[in-house]
Amino acid sequence: MLNSLNKMQKALIALLCGLLLFFGFVILRTGVSRPASTVKLGKVAAGEYDPAVWGQYYPLQYASFQKNSEMAPSPGGFGGSLKTQNSERQPEILANFKGMPFSIDYTEDRGHVFTLEDLKETKRVNDKSPGACISCKTPYIEKLFQEKGWSYGKVPLRELLAQTPEHGYISCANCHDPATMDLRVIQPAFIEAQQRRGIDVTKATREEMRTYVCAQCHVEYHFEPGTSRVVFPWDKGLKPEQMYEMYATKPGGFAQDWQHPDSKAAMLKVQHPEFETWATGVHGQAGVSCADCHMPYMRQDGQKYTSHWMTSPLKHLDASCGTCHTQGAAWLEERVKTIQNHTWQLQHSAGLVVSKAHEAIKKAAAVPNVDQAELAQARELVRKAQWYWDFVAAENGMGFHNPDQALHTCGQAIDLGYKAIESANKAAGIELF
Ligand code: HEC
Ligand code: HEC
Ligand code: HEC
Ligand code: HEC
Repeated sequence: MLNSLNKMQKALIALLCGLLLFFGFVILRTGVSRPASTVKLGKVAAGEYDPAVWGQYYPLQYASFQKNSEMAPSPGGFGGSLKTQNSERQPEILANFKGMPFSIDYTEDRGHVFTLEDLKETKRVNDKSPGACISCKTPYIEKLFQEKGWSYGKVPLRELLAQTPEHGYISCANCHDPATMDLRVIQPAFIEAQQRRGIDVTKATREEMRTYVCAQCHVEYHFEPGTSRVVFPWDKGLKPEQMYEMYATKPGGFAQDWQHPDSKAAMLKVQHPEFETWATGVHGQAGVSCADCHMPYMRQDGQKYTSHWMTSPLKHLDASCGTCHTQGAAWLEERVKTIQNHTWQLQHSAGLVVSKAHEAIKKAAAVPNVDQAELAQARELVRKAQWYWDFVAAENGMGFHNPDQALHTCGQAIDLGYKAIESANKAAGIELF
């Protein structure tokens, strides 16, 4: 029959088949990566920060959001949602953060609904803690910034906490415009940091927004001296060495987070650089967003919706990874565990070497006629070694968000840690370690 058709008819059939295939593919892709069926908009007022009010209109999203209060370990053995002290597994934390609050209290992160409770309870906070600490804990940041601008950063944290209602933990208003339900960002530090990189967040695509909403908080930052303005150090790039380079310029007069009491080195504390780590990794480079893995699509009673339980994807690998990977949950879990175990081993080794370096420098400094220039060199080396170690240790994915960078960064930390010890020996003129 095909033989009896003329060229024109064959071309027409081929075109029709092509179109069918194309639309079939579009429909399939839509089913995989488009959002749940168009939502009916509720009547949520601007400045409404109570998730229960939003939840009346968006019950499926709200029900999954409430699972953020579930506390369980991660099936992979790292991360998890239990409030455990990180120093139990990593005693090097106590030595490396000596003289600053993270050596007193440093718990594993848990669900978004606990942010205010954990901020109130942590021993890292005292009467002098600046209001800037609340920036990543509540949607009330929108109101605070509208009313006070950056001056909220200097208001005592405890004063701001006392004014924030119990429902003021991270919720809908952090990521959604109440009128349109479009994704939005309200974190001034994020908007400014992107501006300095030449990125206008108001022009972001929907795919980018599926990461930007998380990048409002899951990033490295510091407080500008004097003002407590929150600054993300991205001006030179997002890699650990580029951010270290920016710190070398003492941005806004910021020279250090604290001085280590043993080595007397001017130290930096890294804070959860998930976004930066992801950005240069395989998934970040392939445009796989945070929401793709941490907020997979779910189905209930024939309705498709985005899961708002932001937790370890190991708890639902099929939903999180199965849209792109066909290897199956067991294979994927094995891959994640292998990456995490390799990262943990090198991270732990790096942390221990850094601890030794602090000790070596302390001993060297006590030696009469120590070479001061060499000692200064040793202090710079331990500052840098710890930065690299902490970049991996403070990141919450235990290497998964960027496996090769994590191992490379740990390797650099170990190398620099030994160089700091060598330099301390040289300064002292004797073998201390
Ligand atoms: C940390 C950010 C974040 C928070 C907090 C958040 N959402 Fe979302 N929400 C998202 C993302 C990401 C999507 C996917 C949007 C897309 O792909 O366009 C989404 C999608 C939605 C949708 C669209 C339908 C769907 O299921 O995809 C609704 C409705 C929604 N969220 C309601 C809520 C409600 C109600 C709350 C508070 C209880 C909330 N969200 C809290 C990030 C957030
Ligand atoms: C307003 C700031 C903010 C935003 C926006 C935000 N997070 Fe978080 N996130 C936090 C804080 C703070 C914690 C730790 C809370 C605690 O331990 O009390 C946290 C914890 C987590 C955890 C650990 C949960 C657990 O059970 O261990 C995951 C996973 C997570 N966030 C993923 C995301 C993803 C994905 C997004 C974007 C869709 C996002 N977050 C957006 C601040 C934020
Ligand atoms: C390709 C999938 C994928 C992407 C994309 C991804 N993550 Fe993850 N994330 C994971 C996996 C897997 C873990 C490890 C979970 C564990 O240890 O149980 C993890 C862990 C985390 C944790 C710690 C969870 C815990 O239990 O303590 C946080 C926080 C987090 N990711 C945030 C983010 C943010 C923010 C982004 C985007 C910048 C992002 N992730 C992008 C897969 C992903
Ligand atoms: C939206 C698509 C998408 C999702 C969702 C996704 N991946 Fe991937 N993944 C990719 C792409 C693209 C690559 C790059 C290699 C390739 O093209 O196969 C990749 C690579 C990988 C690799 C090999 C590279 C590496 O970093 O070691 C692993 C392992 C992996 N993914 C695990 C996961 C896991 C586990 C999840 C879920 C938590 C997940 N992926 C979710 C798209 C995705």
